[in-house]
Amino acid sequence: MIAIILLLSYVIGSVPFALIVGKVFYDVDIREHGSGNLGGTNTFRVLGKKAGFIVTISDLLKGTLAAALPFFFDSSLPILVAGIPAVIGHCYPVFAKFKGGKAVATSAGVLLFYAPLMFCLLIAVFFLVLYVTKYVSLSSLLACAAAVIYGIVVRDVTLTLVMVAFLLFLLYRHRANIRRIIAKTEPKVKWL
Ligand code: G3P
Repeated sequence: MIAIILLLSYVIGSVPFALIVGKVFYDVDIREHGSGNLGGTNTFRVLGKKAGFIVTISDLLKGTLAAALPFFFDSSLPILVAGIPAVIGHCYPVFAKFKGGKAVATSAGVLLFYAPLMFCLLIAVFFLVLYVTKYVSLSSLLACAAAVIYGIVVRDVTLTLVMVAFLLFLLYRHRANIRRIIAKTEPKVKWL
């Protein structure tokens, strides 16, 4: 049963909404535009607000659905464990040659199901940093750092350890963004 949940979680995470929305509704392969990333930010950048919003919400709901799988299967598998393969699937999707997004929206969806209050705090941190800096990537990284602090404050050891590991993974996935931020060439959002 656990193997089925983990596999299903990976398959759900692998659905490349940015690719699907781009190709089906705009006849555009967003891997060939902007940052080339299959995520909400690049969809906003390349295809506009409507497509960006749809992709971001869809990517987020992949994580929420995957995190809820233990409940559908009446399994005691922890929510965070059930959600991890979806995040991996989003980044390395079997349906898109293993080149996907940078994990932010899908992992946020997992956290929405795991701890809704923390999710709201992270969204607040994200938009505060975005308002000040206009960098989506930096906002994502600092929201993740805030999740580590939240885990420490509420003394949730599992959450803290998972978020530390996840922060390191996010730093790795955003290494090109970090280089661009330092070089002051990272694109800023224009709508805020
Ligand atoms: O953390 C936000 C991430 O989606 C950045 O995407 O396209 O700017 O590399 P992008």
